[in-house]
Amino acid sequence: MTMPDYDEKIPNNVALADDRRLQRALESWQPDFLTWWETMGPALPTRDVYLRTAVSVGREGWARFGHVPMRDYRWGIFLAEPNPDRRIAFGRHKGEPAWQKVPGEYRAELRRLIVIQGDTEPASVEQQRNLGATAPSLYDLRNLFQVNVEEGRHLWAMVYLLQAYFGREGREEAEELLHRNSGSADAPRILRAFNEETPDWLSFFMFTYFTDRDGKYQLGTLKESAFDPLSRTCEFMLKEEAHHMFVGTTGVDRVVERTARVMVENDTDDVAAHGAIPLPVIQKYLNFHYSVSLDLFGGETSANVANYYTAGLKGRWMEERRKDDHLLTGDSIMVDALVDAPNGEQSIGQAEVSALTGLNTDLRREYVADCESGVKRWNRILEGAGLAHRLALPHQAFNRKVGAFAGIEASPGGEKLPAAEWELRKGQWLPTDTDKTFVRSLMRPVYERGKIAAWLAPPRAGINGKPFDYDYVHLS
Ligand SMILES: [Fe+2]
Ligand SMILES: [Fe+2]
Repeated sequence: MTMPDYDEKIPNNVALADDRRLQRALESWQPDFLTWWETMGPALPTRDVYLRTAVSVGREGWARFGHVPMRDYRWGIFLAEPNPDRRIAFGRHKGEPAWQKVPGEYRAELRRLIVIQGDTEPASVEQQRNLGATAPSLYDLRNLFQVNVEEGRHLWAMVYLLQAYFGREGREEAEELLHRNSGSADAPRILRAFNEETPDWLSFFMFTYFTDRDGKYQLGTLKESAFDPLSRTCEFMLKEEAHHMFVGTTGVDRVVERTARVMVENDTDDVAAHGAIPLPVIQKYLNFHYSVSLDLFGGETSANVANYYTAGLKGRWMEERRKDDHLLTGDSIMVDALVDAPNGEQSIGQAEVSALTGLNTDLRREYVADCESGVKRWNRILEGAGLAHRLALPHQAFNRKVGAFAGIEASPGGEKLPAAEWELRKGQWLPTDTDKTFVRSLMRPVYERGKIAAWLAPPRAGINGKPFDYDYVHLS
């Protein structure tokens, strides 16, 4: 069960060969996927890339590394080890055996959850399609492509579930996942953050830090699902996701490190003249990516999410480590809200709601705490360089389009602002056209082994024990 079979046309550890109907369905989807990859995937022509491929789903040694042409990457279907005694950990069905099939009553909801998750995977590949043209080093180029092929595999993971468990509707959804495209006018991706472009590498590092991290938390809730194939799928996806988090975290580290160094060496804040990215610009990019990623968690309260929880479809982050009854019917939670102020206006505050309807807030809170740890890291780099400047996460009301604060404007400090003042000041807080043009002007490709762009520090170590100056990518 553990070892993926690479002799198969579609590598898998789900005994695909024993289910001819499903095998045929997936094999007929495969050419459409490859066409999508060729037209919407990485645009830079390459001969081969030093990539890791999953070879087992166990804890140890699950990956193999080697130079492969990206088109020949073995996208496949890998589920974490089954636990035959697994029981549902929460909700109305708590204590019952996990489901190996989709219960009819939850079919539509489960399909919807899988489609929404599945839609984000190819979307990010589309968003990052042109980044290869401006890669700051071969090491970074390789990491970009690694993230891209794994997001492609995550699409396979969701398409497998749709085709294996949801019949004709599942097959139609699988087609739609290739038909919708990031930023498309007629058929956009489902969530807003996945229709924004990723035009430069600062955006890419911020995206992999903040937006991929949202994915980590969503997968964490689906890993708890009573629907066992979904749970096992997400558990293995989370292993791959760890590398995406690493790319974002260390990417921003290295931008900050380079900027700090140029500031110290030249005794100036004006690092733009020296080809580095000024700290206020880094802060604006952070503000943007953090705020659009907060929107991905949905409204502070949600009746749908309460129902998903009670039904056992989607749990909480680290559900089994929580010390409560895992039913939450009598509990409450404080959530962000607009509240009536004494002057008759509405102000930024909190309101108490039932714990079940506040589950989006519970998940967002876990995410925010995780994001804080990144900011701490980056501030340690500044502190270590002897600089007084600090980065910060903006207030949760800042630049929101979803949830309690969608209808108001607020400063990064959390002060509610009249719309006119927001218009005047937003350029201090979000990247302006000038900022974006400047960042783009730094984006020149560096394809020489061991060389790196001037705005970025080299990594502390290479990939899989290889040095930084390894030939990670062969261009064609
Ligand atoms: Fe993913
Ligand atoms: Fe990811």
